[in-house]
Amino acid sequence: MEFEAVRISPGEYRGDALLVGLFQDGPEPAQALAALDAAVAAMVLEVISEEEFKPKSRQKLTVRVGGDTGLRKVLLVGLGEQAKYKPESLRQCIGEGARALKAIKATTAGVWVPPLSEGGEEATVEALVEAIRLALHEDRRFRSKKSDSEENGNSNNGGESKLTKVSLVVAGEGDYAEAVRRGNILAEGTIFARELVSAPANYVTAVTLAEQATAIAEANGLECEILEKEDCERLGMGAYLGVAQGTDLPPKFIHLTYKPAHGTPRKRVAIIGKGITFDSGGLSIKPAKGMELMKVDMGGAAAALGAAKVLGQLKPDIEVHFIVAATENMVSGHAIHPGDILTASNGKTIEVDNTDAEGRLTLADALVFSEKLGVDAIVDLATLTGACVVALGNDIAGLLTENEELARQIRAAGEASGEKFWQLPMEESYFEGMKSVVADMRNTGSREGGTITAALFLKQFVEKTPWVHLDIAGPVWTEKQKGYTNRGGTGFGVRTLVRFVLAQ
Ligand code: BES
Ligand code: MN
Ligand code: ZN
Repeated sequence: MEFEAVRISPGEYRGDALLVGLFQDGPEPAQALAALDAAVAAMVLEVISEEEFKPKSRQKLTVRVGGDTGLRKVLLVGLGEQAKYKPESLRQCIGEGARALKAIKATTAGVWVPPLSEGGEEATVEALVEAIRLALHEDRRFRSKKSDSEENGNSNNGGESKLTKVSLVVAGEGDYAEAVRRGNILAEGTIFARELVSAPANYVTAVTLAEQATAIAEANGLECEILEKEDCERLGMGAYLGVAQGTDLPPKFIHLTYKPAHGTPRKRVAIIGKGITFDSGGLSIKPAKGMELMKVDMGGAAAALGAAKVLGQLKPDIEVHFIVAATENMVSGHAIHPGDILTASNGKTIEVDNTDAEGRLTLADALVFSEKLGVDAIVDLATLTGACVVALGNDIAGLLTENEELARQIRAAGEASGEKFWQLPMEESYFEGMKSVVADMRNTGSREGGTITAALFLKQFVEKTPWVHLDIAGPVWTEKQKGYTNRGGTGFGVRTLVRFVLAQ
């Protein structure tokens, strides 16, 4: 699917369909559609009044035009209220519009929406490309039939799209090629993360993650260092290796570095992603029901690698380290026992009272490693606690930090991306419950406030670098198709991370 910005009047567009965005509180349809071809506008207005169509957010109306208009259909999509028109509301509505284009099997389409007040037409073009790409993403990697028509709509996204060319109608003379490029790169990085998350544990292992990191480095000129088990042993990463000892697969500690080509970077940041490619719980084994979903436990790693893929192409003047302590959490004769004591790379000792609290063990050594790099800030993303899903549901990630500036920056980047974060307190007194009789700490506290105690545990492995922890256990996966989001892995975090780095 190719996107182009075209400087034409919407009435001049010829193709299968024209997707038109309308405000619910905008001018009367007759006025809003005045730029269309007169015959087309008349047909559309007739159907609007017949169906009493109100362009509320994401409402759609399909009008067959045809004849000698050079257009098969006009698709109207509601953009909601004018005052609430932002990149994210546009993306949500156009995501639904893109699904309508797919439903009518359009191969060519024009898109005509009012420009965003913030960022103007370039931001509008970027948002359109991002949303249409993401909405139309269809993951058929694991189906034998590669086209939906062969198998009666058994799909995760209503069947594949036939769109080959999308023409975005613009009025000005901005750098739309760059906006199209950015929208494409952001969407592709997100799709990359979605597919890593959706692929099961027999397809995505620590080795796969390391291979993907190497490929990103090669394609975009990043540095990539993969620390093998022996390297991690030498660095004293006993917490991470404790988790890794239960699997027959080799652990891979991934360190991918993006450095600006010229000059000294304005800032240096580290992004850590939890990379448990399958979480069985270990000997503190999880119940069978729902265990299959624990393939998503590398969603933080997927977001970090997706962001690396994007930033490697957008090339900001910020140095970024991407770190993943990858392994799986399995049961075997050499798995850790509950009660085992592990020593992390900062010398602290941990009594593993629950082998299912494994993510924090891997992150502990990743945090120590990141801090040693001397970066200005550390962000970690992790599918860390079921408690966070209970607290915030599936659409909102937890955010925990003692640095309010970092919290603000993540929230701003999240808002620009349509990814939601809600801050939870770092209530120091809750760490009491994690004191151990025999070691420096235990790896779990009481059940209550599980997201907070997990963050307090991580805090033991950061000395002084500003750090923010993002618990993405809820939004990493969705069963709902909505806006530009499809069922399966969501790629949550990629776009927020990218905008966070770009805004440094
Ligand atoms: N990977 C899980 C958390 C999770 C839950 C991710 C739901 C995605 C969806 C994590 O390793 C885990 O098992 N956490 C335990 C911690 C407990 C043992 C303190 C949990 O949340 O139950
Ligand atoms: Mn676990
Ligand atoms: Zn886990």
